[in-house]
Amino acid sequence: METWDAIRSRRNVRQYTNRPIAREDLELILEAGRRAPSSMNWQPWNLVVVTDRERLVELAKVWQRGGHVADSPATIALVAAEPEDAMHRDWLQYDFGQATANMMLAAADLGIGSGHSAVLDQEQAQRVLEFPEGYFAVYLIALGYPADRPLRPLLRPDRHPFDEVVHWDRW
Ligand SMILES: Cc1cc2nc3c(=O)[nH]c(=O)nc-3n(C[C@H](O)[C@H](O)[C@H](O)COP(=O)(O)O)c2cc1C
Repeated sequence: METWDAIRSRRNVRQYTNRPIAREDLELILEAGRRAPSSMNWQPWNLVVVTDRERLVELAKVWQRGGHVADSPATIALVAAEPEDAMHRDWLQYDFGQATANMMLAAADLGIGSGHSAVLDQEQAQRVLEFPEGYFAVYLIALGYPADRPLRPLLRPDRHPFDEVVHWDRW
């Protein structure tokens, strides 16, 4: 798939077929995350890949709108060290957003759907993922082949109009 097609095809996919994701495809998606830019190249990410069904079911309990994690063939947990202050927290969130977009687009390029899940219950996340003290789960990205229809460029995305969003030279 071309980059432009991957950008237009990506959408939140929350229902998946049983088809597992090949290890090499998972590694390519993770590599896309690892290559993301970050503030002063501090690379705040740790990526925990979960494919064990029991663990996925437990991981899905971290947030009430994360049910799709339980049914996914694989979910990537984005884990970071607790930032030292509010400024670093802002950088961290921005950088993880970029890593997330890279991974979701790489997945879309392979025809693999992806769906975010927030993490509310950090204690549950730590129980399941076993990350050390002083770390937290930033977000989850569930992955899987779409159960509804294959990824295809969306002709009418649910977005604000271009001219409402874009300003040239000045607001
Ligand atoms: C920061 C962020 C957090 C999100 N958290 C969740 C979530 O917890 N559960 C969920 O089902 N979708 C979540 N989403 C997905 C959004 O609802 C979705 O991206 C948005 O509705 C646009 O739809 P699209 O991704 O299909 O284009 C999240 C998206 C972002 C960017």
